[in-house]
Amino acid sequence: MTKLLGVIGDPIAHSLSPLIHNGWIRDMGFDATYEAMHVPAGEFPSALATLQKRNILGVNVTLPHKTAALEAAYDVTDAARKIRAANTLTYQGEGNWSAENTDAPGFLKALGEFNPSTDSFVVLGAGGSARALVYALAKAGAKVTVLNRTLEKAVTLCADLGNTKSLHGSLDQYKDYIDSATMVINTTSMGYSGEALELPAGDGRLFFDISYGKAAKAQLSEAHAKGWQTRDGLTMLVAQAALSFEIWFGELPDSDAAMRRCQIALEAVA
Ligand code: ATR
Repeated sequence: MTKLLGVIGDPIAHSLSPLIHNGWIRDMGFDATYEAMHVPAGEFPSALATLQKRNILGVNVTLPHKTAALEAAYDVTDAARKIRAANTLTYQGEGNWSAENTDAPGFLKALGEFNPSTDSFVVLGAGGSARALVYALAKAGAKVTVLNRTLEKAVTLCADLGNTKSLHGSLDQYKDYIDSATMVINTTSMGYSGEALELPAGDGRLFFDISYGKAAKAQLSEAHAKGWQTRDGLTMLVAQAALSFEIWFGELPDSDAAMRRCQIALEAVA
């Protein structure tokens, strides 16, 4: 019987996850289907209860449900508990779900190699996405400075998830901090309203914006114009999806094939 998978969120219509996962399911010949599931805030537990009555294998979870996903699971990884968010649930039967966070390892995979003794990071923003990234970077021994519009959130994030090298500050001072970093990661949602921070010269350093498509466009054009190496969040999206897929099917899928499909889909709406 065909297994059901999906991504639960609100909004969800824009999600590339069905394209990514259904492509892999087809390529690898699994008997499964992956759907976008529109579930408003507060309705997450009842959505899971409905799915339990179908042949559900697992779900990805996105805004605004990543904390509700943790609360719904009986078995939660340490990483997800510390980050306070889960993006991957697997149905274990009899009403039990297990929860993991593949955003953190997916980010490290998308980032590629770095040297914790010579590289240093500035993370812009201190929301849910930043928590996964800072957890991953601090665990890898990286020096991280978290800058956020609301200072207390950066302070809390560093205290919860940072390491002895972690610093925090206000986003207003970003230009002062950026010059002390070899890599800058933008996790703020400013790009969704078309805003972009004006950057100092990059001199070939990496500016990684974890959004993609239209939301990343203005900020990455600014970074490119100022001489930064740029990367958008598509590699991270595909990397976290591949790790979820591996949890459900026990095999790592082809990330390059998914990247190509996503690029075509994004070009079609550009
Ligand atoms: P996500 O899960 O994608 O990280 P989030 O938890 O809503 O989303 O976090 C959004 C981040 O973008 C926050 O760090 C937010 O700053 P505040 O903590 O001060 O709210 C940041 N952000 C959103 N709009 C912004 C803006 N116009 N200028 C600066 N920072 C902004």
